[in-house]
Amino acid sequence: MTDLTIAHSRAELAAARRKLTGTVGVTMTMGALHSGHAELIKRAREQVDHVIVTIFLNPLQFAQGEDLSRYPRTFEADVEICREFGAEVVFAPSPDVVYPDGEPGVRVSAGPLGDVLEGASRPGHFDGVLTVVAKLLHLVQPDRAFFGQKDAQQLLLIRRMVRDLDFPVEILPVPTVRQDDGLALSSRNTYLSPSDREVALSLSSALRAGGDMAVSGPAAIRRAARDVLVREPLAAVDYLVLVHPTTLEEVPEWYRGPALLAVAAKVGTTRLIDNLPLVVGPGGGARLVVDYAE
Ligand code: PAF
Repeated sequence: MTDLTIAHSRAELAAARRKLTGTVGVTMTMGALHSGHAELIKRAREQVDHVIVTIFLNPLQFAQGEDLSRYPRTFEADVEICREFGAEVVFAPSPDVVYPDGEPGVRVSAGPLGDVLEGASRPGHFDGVLTVVAKLLHLVQPDRAFFGQKDAQQLLLIRRMVRDLDFPVEILPVPTVRQDDGLALSSRNTYLSPSDREVALSLSSALRAGGDMAVSGPAAIRRAARDVLVREPLAAVDYLVLVHPTTLEEVPEWYRGPALLAVAAKVGTTRLIDNLPLVVGPGGGARLVVDYAE
């Protein structure tokens, strides 16, 4: 097991960062680490010499009335996961370290891609995400940053920010980790009662059903996924879409190529999201991450 340094201040992080020679990867989290985060750390560990994990519950990406106050806080257990999976530094700042002047007056704007899907239900959410990701990239100075495919729109926007604003870092996607029955791992799953959890399974089942129809084209994919969701009235669906992975626009019926089947629904009091990257058309089917090259 590697030695683990816990840095709370900018100075502690800078001192720990200076000691790392070779390539550095970062995995950003809001805490409440689960096997999905462990996978991010593991993947990073395979591809860089040193891994830094950030643990910061970013108030800027929560709107009023969202679940910031009830978000699970499990710092000791989080640190153990970081240690077990080979991170060398944990950066766990408090809000006044990240935002020393209070709410930042200048923020990164996600632009139109931040207004659709998740952004339509959570106005300002992606500006908050991109602002903190930009700050953490500046503070950590990694060569590579690893983000989960589970938050597909977030991953796309971070890629766009890095490209559009010339951040000197490579963004790498890590496939969604699922439980044996298909449920995508999320810190929010802890809010689900056993019966909610049964209902929540309809999201991944719908995606699987859609993915199974990938060779048949967009209408068949959408129909198969929708048919699963309508059988579960307790999942209050916000959206179920088949979109182009870079424009997030619904793909037309003639479309063949990479796409993202994405779903969001409220189960009990918990909003859940999930998605399946796939290739539509002959030879198509589900993929682990979006293949932008296709
Ligand atoms: O995906 C998350 O946990 C957060 O949005 C992130 C990227 C750590 C920024 O706060």
